[in-house]
Amino acid sequence: MLQSAWSSGLINRALKATTPTAFTAVRPLRTFGHSPSVAAAASYARRVGVRMDASRGVATATADKPTKAFPGAGDFLPLEGFEHMEIYCSNAKQAAHWYQSVMGFQPLAYSGLETGVKDKTSYVLRQGNMTLVLTSSLVPNSHIDKFVSSHGDGVKTIALRVPDARQAFAETTKRGAPAHMEPTEVSDANGTVVMSGIQTYGDVVHVFIERKNYNGLFLPGFQPWSPPFRAPPVGLERIDHIVGNVDWGQMDKWCKYYEDVMGFTNLISFDDKDISTEYTALMSKVMTSGTGYVKFPINEPAKGKKKSQIEEYLDFNNGAGAQHVAIATKDIISTVSQMRQRGCEFLYVPGTYYDTVTDRCGQIDEDLEALKQQGILVDRDEDGYLLQIFTKPVCDRPTLFFEIIQRKGAQSFGKGNFKALFESIEEEQRRRGTL
Ligand SMILES: [Fe+2]
Repeated sequence: MLQSAWSSGLINRALKATTPTAFTAVRPLRTFGHSPSVAAAASYARRVGVRMDASRGVATATADKPTKAFPGAGDFLPLEGFEHMEIYCSNAKQAAHWYQSVMGFQPLAYSGLETGVKDKTSYVLRQGNMTLVLTSSLVPNSHIDKFVSSHGDGVKTIALRVPDARQAFAETTKRGAPAHMEPTEVSDANGTVVMSGIQTYGDVVHVFIERKNYNGLFLPGFQPWSPPFRAPPVGLERIDHIVGNVDWGQMDKWCKYYEDVMGFTNLISFDDKDISTEYTALMSKVMTSGTGYVKFPINEPAKGKKKSQIEEYLDFNNGAGAQHVAIATKDIISTVSQMRQRGCEFLYVPGTYYDTVTDRCGQIDEDLEALKQQGILVDRDEDGYLLQIFTKPVCDRPTLFFEIIQRKGAQSFGKGNFKALFESIEEEQRRRGTL
């Protein structure tokens, strides 16, 4: 998997990420060959074991097993990938039914009164490599209750897999991360898991999970959950990225946090000129782990004529939090059509969007009419193209939503779709009276 990611274009990002003057933000790599920094970049490419075609600015791997896709990242943990994501909700039982029936997640494990847990209940669902935990409180005034009262249903835990959770805790806290959970061993008949955790923006936490000595279904204490109701999966595969919305002027602070504390590097930056419509604007920076497996874009509002979607989020979420979770699929047309049939609501883009798709993105494998029918957007970068679509908010408050994404080479985030998307979101805001 690493090898294919490496050879399919991540190394281009590696070069960008480590030559700051030539490759900041969204500058296309094809300018590489004409850059005054080309000699420095070529020298860097030799050092890290890649070969660069200076005429096209294309780099290919020569090393057999690179340890990093983004050498600019410190990556001292190192992160092995997303482990699971936990949503705190007011009614986990009903939420679990929605995630099964609409999004195709499969029941996996359970903890609650029947398993001896008296204060909370958790349903664990899985689809592809993505594990989702839905938790609600069984007692008043718990931290879960307080979270839901303050933010509504939302992402509490972004758990990350590490080879050594004690070391991950030591490395991050000594660099300034506030502790959330001291290293803790939990065991059952299936072995032992070591967990630790740190706080991040808002009330969101990162929990580091070391599970090399565990072969149970999920975590110790959970029992298999096998209800009679099963809805088929829809082809969701894994978390691609999770976006955080932070308050005015806080984006750089949180990007620096990921850089300092977790050894991430800045992959791409978008300013308010990239992401603005007639009325609203935002700024965004994408932070990535060295392996490229974990990406956290961070958004903050920017000044516009009217209230931006980020301000609306901050109002309803009562501060910073996780805005959207992008989930990758290998067949977005099939995934989205199944989700639509099951009642998932997606943002609407006008049919005229498709009039210029081929001009903007060139030839693509998919049938344009099928994409139009499902409202799926297309964007291209120097590595390939991507297909993406966004759900409407999935809870009562206009906060958390999902992105469904299929990458066909492209490693970017759909910059060419920002304008159409944000106009669509503005239309939703107008209907909510929050623009
Ligand atoms: Fe996204």
